[in-house]
Amino acid sequence: MNKHCIINGPNLNLLGQREPEIYGSMTLSEIQKHTESELKKRGLDVKLDWFQSNIEGEIVEKIQSTLEQNYKSIIINPAGYSHTSVAIYDALKLVKIPIVEVHLSNVYAREDFRHNLLTARAARTIMSGLGKNAYAMAVLSQEL
Ligand code: DQA
Repeated sequence: MNKHCIINGPNLNLLGQREPEIYGSMTLSEIQKHTESELKKRGLDVKLDWFQSNIEGEIVEKIQSTLEQNYKSIIINPAGYSHTSVAIYDALKLVKIPIVEVHLSNVYAREDFRHNLLTARAARTIMSGLGKNAYAMAVLSQEL
């Protein structure tokens, strides 16, 4: 069974209450359930390892830990760190498996500072604006 590592950055633990007009009304754990059930409905038997942290160094360590594991891909929403974190970018550059960077919102329809996706330079694929379906679409993109 293919395993994918799904990493979420700061403030995504507060999905549901955080700017619902932008990020929707589902909590992160509801999005996790939604993702797994949509994939199952489509006959995809995958293992998803979900991780969330508000702390840059913990995200770096999680990315480093994937080097010793047999993941098919890393799916990462670095959230606010997407625009600023050289450390997360450097950690992603170490990784040999495909990286998909996802954003729930369409960052290009938002403030200018969100248009610079520093970490996305290390990704093979980026997806932005798919809302609660972002993670299921990212897994599908690696499984089709
Ligand atoms: C986000 C977009 C980022 O600009 C923002 O800082 C986030 C969430 C998204 O999923 O749309 O925290 O990554």
